[in-house]
Amino acid sequence: MRIKLYVNDKEHLLNTHGERRLSDVLREDLGLLATKVRCGSGKCGACIVLAEGELCSSCLVPVGIMQNSHITTFEHFSQTRDFQDISRVVKSLNMNVPGEKEPFFYFTLNSIINNIQEITPENTVSFYKNFENFSFSFETLYQIAKQASAIRKKRIAEEIAQLNQQRTGKR
Ligand code: FES
Repeated sequence: MRIKLYVNDKEHLLNTHGERRLSDVLREDLGLLATKVRCGSGKCGACIVLAEGELCSSCLVPVGIMQNSHITTFEHFSQTRDFQDISRVVKSLNMNVPGEKEPFFYFTLNSIINNIQEITPENTVSFYKNFENFSFSFETLYQIAKQASAIRKKRIAEEIAQLNQQRTGKR
């Protein structure tokens, strides 16, 4: 079947079987190897991508149902300011996130920051069971989410102020 995907802001037209896993298409057809496949059953998070902005275990998804979807892989996400908001905090805490766990780690923290207006221990605790395979404490992960969220809010406010300045300057 013919499938159109928008991967990392680029349109791709593929001729492939619709039952193939999205993870395999990303790796084998598009060469996006940051998407790993380990358990193949939705448990380990190695294959995580964003699909329409939501976390998606790409090993569980047949590519045929993703017609016209927007997919973001870690190759692209790791070049964004959203990623930098989080990695700044991770670096300041001298934390070592193992390479193959980075997509899951950063995509999940990003999702917490995007979806929770006020980061508190109470309203984020349910997310941390997702990090069971990491050796980081709840307190550390909570601190990253909280600090990265503050950095992001400040950055966005500055970007808006800059845009407003440019607009007023043009008048
Ligand atoms: S490969 Fe483990 S969740 Fe997809």
